[in-house]
Amino acid sequence: MACSNTACPFGWGRYCGAVKLLFVADIVGQPGRRAVKELVPKLRQQHGLSLVVGNGENAAGGSGITVKTAEEIFSAGVDIITCGDHLWDQKEITELLDHEPRFVRPLNYPAGTPGQGSTLFKSASSPTVGILNLQGRTFMQAIENPFEQAAKEVERLRQTTKLIIVDFHAEATSEKIALARMLDGRVSAVIGTHTHVQTADEQIFPGGTAFLCDGGFTGPHESVIGREIEPVIRRFVTNMPQKFEVAKERVLLQGAIVEIDEQTGRALSIRRVSEALPLP
Ligand SMILES: [Fe+2]
Ligand SMILES: [Fe+2]
Repeated sequence: MACSNTACPFGWGRYCGAVKLLFVADIVGQPGRRAVKELVPKLRQQHGLSLVVGNGENAAGGSGITVKTAEEIFSAGVDIITCGDHLWDQKEITELLDHEPRFVRPLNYPAGTPGQGSTLFKSASSPTVGILNLQGRTFMQAIENPFEQAAKEVERLRQTTKLIIVDFHAEATSEKIALARMLDGRVSAVIGTHTHVQTADEQIFPGGTAFLCDGGFTGPHESVIGREIEPVIRRFVTNMPQKFEVAKERVLLQGAIVEIDEQTGRALSIRRVSEALPLP
């Protein structure tokens, strides 16, 4: 496809054969949405991005996502929003599950759960790409088996495209690595979300699947995984319930940029992103 990156070595507007994806890790509250609004358009232009996928499970006040917060994220240039275990935190979620084709929830929820676990995306700057969202079960709610469901869904998506991105929303590093190893050669990338801590293990497996155990989170990093520090410490010290407000300072957009060969679906590169929001 035509490259829109002005710095592309193949020349602007010429075929370069690579699809460039930005994955934005868990967008937390208003600071996270502000980072998306200010940095996604900049990164789109700077890197000639083909598509942007963002995890929105913490977009509304740190818990869940609403129609309005989803709209804010879409209008900043995020093409597809994925989710996770905070899916049910906002009542309005049913609206997104029932009517928003750009919203994907983890596939392995019980049969009959509204919404979709994967979608196909295509635009003027991107060929058809499958986006699949899964949720882990280790140290998390026991939902359906993500391994079993991933294998079937990937085969179904591959009948349409070899370009497939997986957001695996899971706690345990071993579960994420195992799923990505199982899908190696069948999907373009597996990027982990949920822990809000960016790992430094970005790599391309032998079959051509790019992997990052966790993309981190997009929001205030002067915090405990996005929340004000003191109440979280109090909770650990006293065991008493506390109100966890979203923190404010040191806002970063975190995630990864993955380059994928358009013909084969194999990843060409993966790099971590941790971009600071300039101070007002
Ligand atoms: Fe999260
Ligand atoms: Fe989560």
